[in-house]
Amino acid sequence: MTKGKRAGDGPVAVEVEKGKSYYWCACGQSKKQPFCDGSHMSPINDEGTKFTPFAYKAEETKKMFFCACKQTNNAPFCDGSHNK
Ligand code: FES
Repeated sequence: MTKGKRAGDGPVAVEVEKGKSYYWCACGQSKKQPFCDGSHMSPINDEGTKFTPFAYKAEETKKMFFCACKQTNNAPFCDGSHNK
């Protein structure tokens, strides 16, 4: 699977709410990291158009660590790949 552009050097901690859906930016072009802002659909963004956001529905309310480097193998969460 093609990975997105690096958008950070470590995970982003987010307090997710049970039952709420979150759309993780897979392309790395979003200005609202770690979530999608629609930039992947921009016609001037050739890299981004290969990607679609990853939908995640929170099963409980708690702090989760979302991947910002876009190199994770456990999307949308950090798996430590930013250190590799
Ligand atoms: S802006 Fe990156 S997936 Fe939508």
